Parts: sequence; C-alpha cells; structure tokens
Amino acid sequence: MLSGGLVASSTKIQPASLQPLLRLYGEGLAQTNQLIQSTADSSILLIPKVAHHLLDAGGKRIRSLLLLASADLVCQLSGTAYQQQKILNLSAAVEMIHTATLLHDDVVDNSTLRRGKPTANKIWDNKLPILVGDYLFSCAFMLMVKSESLKVLEMLSAVSAELAEGEVLQLQYEGDAGLSREIYQQIITAKTASLFRAASYAGAIVGCDDENLKQILKQFGHEFGILFQLIDDMMDYHVSADMMGKISGDDLREGKVTLPLIILREKLNEAQQQWLADVISKKEANDNDLAKIQELMTQYHIAEEMRGEIAVYGDRLNHSLEKLADGAPKQSLPIIDALHQAVQFSLQRIY
Ligand code: IPE
Ligand code: IPE
Ligand code: MG
Ligand code: MG
Repeated sequence: MLSGGLVASSTKIQPASLQPLLRLYGEGLAQTNQLIQSTADSSILLIPKVAHHLLDAGGKRIRSLLLLASADLVCQLSGTAYQQQKILNLSAAVEMIHTATLLHDDVVDNSTLRRGKPTANKIWDNKLPILVGDYLFSCAFMLMVKSESLKVLEMLSAVSAELAEGEVLQLQYEGDAGLSREIYQQIITAKTASLFRAASYAGAIVGCDDENLKQILKQFGHEFGILFQLIDDMMDYHVSADMMGKISGDDLREGKVTLPLIILREKLNEAQQQWLADVISKKEANDNDLAKIQELMTQYHIAEEMRGEIAVYGDRLNHSLEKLADGAPKQSLPIIDALHQAVQFSLQRIY
C-alpha cells in the first residue's frame, strides 16, 4: 500500500521527500555519479573544471532516480532480469544530458545563480559553458551507445533534439505577451517533460518487453515532467532565491511568458494587459515591474489557480501509480511508494 492511504490526493499533501528513492537507489546513484565523473573527464583541463563546477554543486538527480526506479520496477513486475550495467550507463546519460542542457540554458537565460552557486556563464562568460555543454552531450551519446539498445538510442537521440526544439521555441516567443496556453504546453513538453519521459521510458525499455507497462511509465514520466516545470514556473514568481538556489523573477526579466503570467493576463482589463505586454516586450523588466506583477498575482489568486492546474497532474500521476500497484508483487510496492513520495515532494515545493 502507498504511504498515507491508498494514494493520498495531491490536494492533501503529506510530508514527503526524495529519501525513499535515495534509500532504494543510493548505491545506483553513487555509481551513476562515478560514471559521469569518469566519462566527463578530459585531459583538456577546462572541461572537467567547468563540468565539475555544476556537477559538484548538487542537484536532485531526479531524472537518474526516475530511470533507476522505472527499470527496477518493470523487472519486478514482469519478472525479467535487471541489467545493471546498461541501466547505469543510461542513468548517467540522462543526467549528463540534463547537465549539458543546464549549462546551455543558463547562457540563454542570462542566469547568474544555479544550485546556489554562480553559474558557469557568470564565472567564465558564455563560450566555455556552450562548448563544455556540447562535450557533455557527446559523452552522453557514448554512454547511450553502450546500452546496446537501438530502441533506446533512437528514443534518446530524438529527445535530445526535442529538448533543443523546446528551448528554441521558447526563444521564438520571448517578449510575446500573447503566448497561448497551447504554445506554452508545447514548450514545456519539449524542454522538460521530454527528458522525464525519456528517463522513465528508457528504464522500462531496458527492463521488459511488456508494451502496456512501458506505455504507463512513458506517460508517467511525461506527466511528472509537466508537473515539475509548472512548479518551477510558479516558484519563479513566488519563492526566494535562497530556497530555489536560482534567482526568482528571471522568467519575467527575460520576457518569458509562463503559465502564472498567462493566467494573470486573462484576468486583467485592457489597460493592464497593455501595460503587461509592454513590460514583457521590453525584455528588461525591473524590480518594480516584478513587484507590481507579484502584487497583481496575489490580488487575483494566481497561486491558488496554479495549484489547481498542478494538482490535475498530481492526481494523474497518483492514478498511474495506483494502476502499477494493482496486483503488483509485494516486494515492488516500496518502489511505487518511493515514486509516490517523489511526486508529493515536488508538490510540496509550492505549499
Ligand atoms: C531544473 O531541473 C530545470 C527544470 C526543468 C526546471 P532540476 O530542478 O531537476 O535541477 P537540479 O538538477 O535539481 O539542479
Ligand atoms: C528548464 O528551463 C528546462 C531546461 C533546462 C531545458 P528553465 O529555464 O525554465 O529552468 P531553470 O529555471 O533555469 O532551471
Ligand atoms: Mg533557465
Ligand atoms: Mg530557460
């Protein structure tokens, strides 16, 4: 049984953390980290220097944990053998893709703080993180090839392209206050949900041949990724840099329209909408603009609406876990429970 009743509704948040996943996969994650270190090594000293700056700063490693859990779960549910080395290679590959993306993303977003530390672009300027990001992407591909699964290689290559498409699509709409919900959904699906989906799906592909199981985990990863980015976008307006390890308000300063802003726009009168469009299009909103928008968000209860949107995904994720738990062997329930805790942990960041 999952903790806190069969499945706690996402509206009733229980204290949760990534600890249950870490307890189950701490060793796998330590091996993943070692593999990343050795793969990202280079005699060109600036490469490990920049890579380690970000890798050693922490990070939740949630994509690796998702992959390790998904692979283990499908093996338990379908009675197949756990292919440790292949799974470790893929666990390291998804985290390296994520790391490369962050290096590039901070350049694109002009971000100055990540994981509580100055970003690589802040310390070294833009050229190095772009090149080291490329290096890490290439290393990730070397690890993917070692998985010896053409299906996984094909899927992860497509997802790497999708990630870049998401970032470019977002850039295309920078400064456009009229961004629709549909385009926003397309952006976050490509830039974030794709890698969560890939992590969960890759674990399932390597672990079993059961098509139904693979589809459930693929969908689970997709919805987890959407939930995760919605939460991140909400936090950008509502949480301090101390708590996030990133500077809040970055999205507005860069003219990036995210769901909290779309919901706010829908509530404003014509004059207010025009003012908002001007703030977005100048792409250099100041602290006063941010404070005014935060004030309007409080006035129009945007946080509550965001929580409602996010809860839809929380409930869908819990429903998928219920499906997986139904008739599952007893020894697999701690994995399902740990995934449930990871979802609840993400939700708690906005309560
Ligand atoms: C940050 O991802 C980028 C987003 C998709 C919002 P994480 O929140 O997983 O970042 P780290 O790896 O824990 O720093
Ligand atoms: C997150 O982009 C997704 C990727 C890194 C591709 P964001 O720009 O929204 O994430 P943060 O807030 O910088 O982590
Ligand atoms: Mg960013
Ligand atoms: Mg970005």
